[in-house]
Amino acid sequence: MSMATTHGLESQVPGLDIRRTDLPTGPNVVVPPKDLIPPTDPEISAIEREMTKQQPQKNVSSGGNPVANAEPIDKRPVATADQFAFAFDIDGVLMRGGKPIPEAVDALKYINGENPYGVKVPYIFLTNGGGKTEEERCLDLSRQLEIEVSTGQFICGHTPMREMVERYNTVLVVGGEGEKCRVVAEGYGFKDVITPGDIIKTRQDTTPFRKLTDDEFENSRARDLSNTKIDAIFVFADSRDWAGDQQIILDVIMTKNGHLGTRSETHEEGPPVFFSHTDVVWSTSHEHCRLGMGALRASLEALYKTITGKDLATTAFGKPQLGTFQFATKLLQQWRQEIHGINKPPGTVYFIGDTPESDVRGTNEFDRISDATWYSILVKTGVYQEGMEPRYPPKQVTDDVLGAVKFAMDREFKKNPKEFEGEKTEQSGAIYN
Ligand code: G3P
Ligand code: MG
Repeated sequence: MSMATTHGLESQVPGLDIRRTDLPTGPNVVVPPKDLIPPTDPEISAIEREMTKQQPQKNVSSGGNPVANAEPIDKRPVATADQFAFAFDIDGVLMRGGKPIPEAVDALKYINGENPYGVKVPYIFLTNGGGKTEEERCLDLSRQLEIEVSTGQFICGHTPMREMVERYNTVLVVGGEGEKCRVVAEGYGFKDVITPGDIIKTRQDTTPFRKLTDDEFENSRARDLSNTKIDAIFVFADSRDWAGDQQIILDVIMTKNGHLGTRSETHEEGPPVFFSHTDVVWSTSHEHCRLGMGALRASLEALYKTITGKDLATTAFGKPQLGTFQFATKLLQQWRQEIHGINKPPGTVYFIGDTPESDVRGTNEFDRISDATWYSILVKTGVYQEGMEPRYPPKQVTDDVLGAVKFAMDREFKKNPKEFEGEKTEQSGAIYN
C-alpha cells in the first residue's frame, strides 16, 4: 500500500506528492557539535540525584547477571540494566493529540522497575516536535506521563538549532504559538530574532488577508525593515498560518543577501532555510494523519520553483537525519553516566517509533554506522497502522509502546538465559512477582 493511500491524504492534497519523503539530503546531515547536548536541568537533576541517593541502584549487566540485584517491586531498590536502553518517539507512541496513549503510562512504569525482572532501564525521548522550550515540554511530559522527565533526557526537533547561534546574527523564526518560538530562539542565544508577526506589524500589507490579533499585535515588534538584513530562516515549529508564513519566507529567500525589500535577479542570493524536521504527516487525535512541517517544506519548494524556475535547497534537522541520532547517542551516554552511574556505552538501544519514514529509517540507517545496535520497533498507535506496508521495515512491530518495552526486555534477558536462570533459582520467588 502506498504512503498516500495509507495516510488517506491523496484526495485531500491533489498535486502534492506526499510520498516524497526523500527531500534533498545532500547537505542535510547535521552533525551535532560536542557542546550541543543540553545541560541537565539543575533543579530536576538535584531531585533525581536525591532520589538516586534514597533508592540506591546497582548496575546489572545482561552479560553479567540481570537478576542478581532484582527484588520484589515496591519492596526493595531495583537494579539498573546497563546493557541496553530505550529511546522513545513521542507523538503517536506516548502521546496523541496532547493526551497520553493509554499504554504509555504503564510502559514507563514497566521500564522504571515495575516489571518481572525487577530492573529499571535508562531512556531518553527523541521527538521531531517542538514549539516550546525544552524545560516547558519536559514539565508537560512529566505531568502527562506521571514520571519525572528531565531536559537531560530530551531532544526535540529544534534542539540542534542551538548550533547556529554563532553563525547567524539576525534570524527569521517561523512557527509555533504566539511568541513561544522567539523565546526558544532567544534562549538558545540567537541575538536578533525576527518573526513574521514583526514584519506584518510593521508592514500590514505584507499579507493582504492575514491580520494580527490584538495579542499578536501587542507582542510583535515593529522594526525598520529597510535596515534589516536576515541572515537565516529557521522553521522551529509547525506554521499556524501557512499562507502568511510562506509569503514572508519567500520574500526573504528572494532578497539580495537577506536585505528586506530587495529582490535578487538571480534568485540565488537569499539566506539559507532550516527546518527542524521533515515529517510530511504526523499523528494527532484525528483518525487520519495530519499535515506536518515536511508538507510546508514541500509546498514552499514547489512555490519557489513555480515562481523562480529554480530549485530551493533547504536543510533539515530531526529524524531521520543521522546527526540527530548521533546527538541522541551522546545525550544517552551522558544520561546513563550522570544519573545511573554507567560508564560504558549500551550494547543495544531500542528506538520505539510510529513513523517509518523518520523513526524506522533513521534508526536502521544509524544502526549501520553506530557502535551500539540501534533496534527499530514500530508501533501501531500513530502514523503506522495495522494493514499498512511500512516503506522502511522495522526489526519488530508491536501493537503499542507497552508491547514494545515488554518485547525488548524479554529479548534482552533471553540473550543470557543461563545466567538468568541461575539467579532465578537462587532468588526464586523474589523475582517474578
Ligand atoms: O510535529 C511533530 C511531529 O511531526 C512528530 O513528532 O514525536 O512523532 O517525532 P514525533
Ligand atoms: Mg511519532
